[in-house]
Amino acid sequence: MIINWGYEKVLRPLLFRCGGGDPERVHDTTLSLINFVGERPRLRSGVARLLAGHRDPVTVAGIDFPGRVGVAAGLDKNGLGLKAWGALGFGYAELGTVTAQGQPGNAAPRLFRLAEHGAILNRMGFNNLGAPALAARLAAAGVVRGNGAVGIPLGISLGKTRTTPLAEATTDYLSSFRLLAGYADYVAVNVSSPNTPGLRTLQDATALGELTSTLVAEADRLAGSSVPVPVFVKLAPDLSEDALEELLDVCLSTGVAGLIATNTTLARTGVEQHPYAAEAGGLSGAPLAARTRAVVSFLTARTSLPVIGVGGIMSADDGRALLDAGAVLLQVYTGYIYGGPALVRDLNQLTGRHG
Ligand code: FNR
Repeated sequence: MIINWGYEKVLRPLLFRCGGGDPERVHDTTLSLINFVGERPRLRSGVARLLAGHRDPVTVAGIDFPGRVGVAAGLDKNGLGLKAWGALGFGYAELGTVTAQGQPGNAAPRLFRLAEHGAILNRMGFNNLGAPALAARLAAAGVVRGNGAVGIPLGISLGKTRTTPLAEATTDYLSSFRLLAGYADYVAVNVSSPNTPGLRTLQDATALGELTSTLVAEADRLAGSSVPVPVFVKLAPDLSEDALEELLDVCLSTGVAGLIATNTTLARTGVEQHPYAAEAGGLSGAPLAARTRAVVSFLTARTSLPVIGVGGIMSADDGRALLDAGAVLLQVYTGYIYGGPALVRDLNQLTGRHG
């Protein structure tokens, strides 16, 4: 109650107003605050005590997750909040998306709030400091895959550098993979962002097959006689059922360990009249919930690969619906912006009762 009140009545209004209310500056300020908490052990323990609640441990793809609710990719691209996410109630965090080389992303404005719809529209375009910088940050924090240095498992999301031609995409992902696989509990292959030209064509069966088989083989090679890092694939919500079926076959035959459904959508269902609806980019939050649920149900009905459900989780009921659709883990982004820590706590309680 107090957490909910504190976020909705005090912290969120303050944050949403800083930097003249510009959503991107608000995001940067929030991440700085989260970093501040993460870097101070006593403050971090205090926050953890304040937000402590039930979490529902689960083992997925050989990884022990202390809770089912994770930070979705894009929220902490450069790992600034690395040490804080566990204290904020999350059971894991997917850092990134990072690219082989750091890049500035698209021109601003590139992040828009559609508050009355519980939605965000973004065309950030993988602004990030690059895979080498993330590797350095993880090394400095003492993270080694599986050593629990930050208390929760870390996924790392990889994307393609914008200037790398699509024909060389595999080499680009591979170079990030080599730098980061030793730190990641799982690697997420992001072929579903709508904001890097041509990226989604990597979801075509042949291209995806080449990419995932190369990364899985590299994971095996790097692991030697130990367990290779699991490779997950993150999918777009805008794929047809035929395309999803084909993708599933590719993922199964190339040794992919799990799926993440879904990324942001190009659809504007439910927000057609909003002034920002015509902006280019991917839509997230409440308008995405029904489509994400449908994709998760479709996938889990056809495969035993674990599926992480992400998209439009704005309440505990939305989380329950995705678990009922067969997701084993959840992630939040937009719901966290609007709902804050109370959403994570509610979802943790819910997942504790599920199944
Ligand atoms: C994202 N998302 C995202 N996904 C990804 O795989 N890599 C990324 O870099 C980003 N970046 C990003 C930036 C912003 C501003 C938003 C709002 C979203 C997508 C995100 O991880 C998630 O899949 C969708 O936003 C759907 O979940 P929510 O937001 O409805 O909870």
